[in-house]
Amino acid sequence: MVLIPMLSEATWESAVVYQVYWRSFLDGNGDGVGDLKGLRSKVAYLSSLGVDAIWLNPTYPSPQGDHGYDVSDYFDVDPIFGTLDELRAAIHDFHEEGIKVLLDIVPNHVSSQHPWFKAAIEGDEDGPEESRFIIRSGSGPKGASPPNDWKSIFGGPAWSRFPQKTADTQRWYLHMFDECQPDLNWENQEVHERFERILEHWYEIGVDGFRIDVAHGLYKAPGFPNMETFDGNWSACWDQPKVHEVYRSWRRISDRYEPRRFLIGEIHTSSRDRLLDYIGKDQLDAAFDFSFLHQPWSAEGFMERIAENLQLAEMSGSTPVWTLSNHDETRHWTRYCTKGKGEPTGELDCGTRYRSLISLMASLPGRIFLYNGEELGLPQAEVPDDSRQDPAFFRQPPDSDYKGRDGCRVPLPWESERDNAGFSTTAPWLPMPVGWHRYSVDLQDEDPESMLNYYRGQIEMRKAEDWMGNGEISDLSSNGGVLSFVKSSGGLKVMVNLNFNDRPVPMDTGEVLFRSSKSSLVERDLGPGEIAFLILHEGV
Ligand code: NOJ
Repeated sequence: MVLIPMLSEATWESAVVYQVYWRSFLDGNGDGVGDLKGLRSKVAYLSSLGVDAIWLNPTYPSPQGDHGYDVSDYFDVDPIFGTLDELRAAIHDFHEEGIKVLLDIVPNHVSSQHPWFKAAIEGDEDGPEESRFIIRSGSGPKGASPPNDWKSIFGGPAWSRFPQKTADTQRWYLHMFDECQPDLNWENQEVHERFERILEHWYEIGVDGFRIDVAHGLYKAPGFPNMETFDGNWSACWDQPKVHEVYRSWRRISDRYEPRRFLIGEIHTSSRDRLLDYIGKDQLDAAFDFSFLHQPWSAEGFMERIAENLQLAEMSGSTPVWTLSNHDETRHWTRYCTKGKGEPTGELDCGTRYRSLISLMASLPGRIFLYNGEELGLPQAEVPDDSRQDPAFFRQPPDSDYKGRDGCRVPLPWESERDNAGFSTTAPWLPMPVGWHRYSVDLQDEDPESMLNYYRGQIEMRKAEDWMGNGEISDLSSNGGVLSFVKSSGGLKVMVNLNFNDRPVPMDTGEVLFRSSKSSLVERDLGPGEIAFLILHEGV
């Protein structure tokens, strides 16, 4: 039994979780890809940032066709990343620092190199090996066309040919993502049992919980109706009622452990209300709020997203989660700090907005998920087409503007004077753009005004000031382009104001406790993009 230094329940409820896209974090063995050796050498860095937990993208053996989201063995560790023993040791290192470790579980699909899929290809037609997957006869003469019109999320058809055995019609297997990721058939009880064992395996090792990939997936609508029936959307492919039984069972397993293990879902549903079906006491602890992440720069928009997320948490009895970047999305520096396509709004404005956003998250109740590199202020990187790796890029039609997700996955710069900015002694798996070294950790460490030190300061303040992570929130508004709310804790009342306008606005009340900009603004003016924390005194 692994003993985990306990974060108190209250601290875990307001935890700062740091997502490690390990391929791009730090390469310790000189092959151009991040690994456990690199990660273990940075436990102190993550501790100095103040994070309470890390979430590792899939660490299992995988042909890396979708960079780990194509798993070929759920019980082990990919040799590119390290060994199972090294992962055990890393979990121990993190626990020693009081940092929890979440893994990523991928239940919707496996790799086409998984022994189950290989066995399905070898096994009898309609035999037990095939029944772990979704295999159907094609439509049209001799089944030459896919069974229905479903499209892969990555582009192109969601069906690829499956070996014809005895039938004289062509058969197809379903893959909602790349063809190297066949979807599992969750109507098959064996699939349930296998995933329950996978959870237990990692919990015994000491893993503190899971981020669940495509948690809204797993089941498909009976009869596989065409997407056309649903105005071309994916309603038939996702969010089916039977999925909740899976999470009830996962919750029962997670609750059996001490401390109880944590489950957070990547859930995309047609409406926000449907998220309610997934979270709460008997299913998942939390879900990512992608509408917050996708919210453009607008006081009213952010106010609405915050109100909805708080309401969802209250109705479900869960804790809100705030996040602005991850390994699938354009980095939020680029989303909030450039106008249209790559046109900068100006350095001061960018830095101020970006700083205000982490301060905003730090002052909201609930959990914050940070994506590695965001603490350095990394923008979305330009990746030349011939260096791209993302399968989603390769499945786009020729006229598509979508370039895939590589730009947010470019490796982290650690040391400005070293080759490849200290990430690796050899060429990184994705090239770093010219000038990437100027974001390096060593430079930012030394500069008290750097983004890294700003992030550290905000996380430290959140821990020191109970009103930030835990206080009661009230008076949420967005008058005149200023997002505003009050947080109360003990006898203290603090008003948070974020100015979304391009011009300064006067701050009418409160004593300034903190503001995100050090520019030479009029003392009682809140600058463009600036946030301030203002203490409200009785009678004011
Ligand atoms: C969501 C993951 O975040 C993404 O990176 C992956 O490609 C798909 N699920 C498929 O597993």
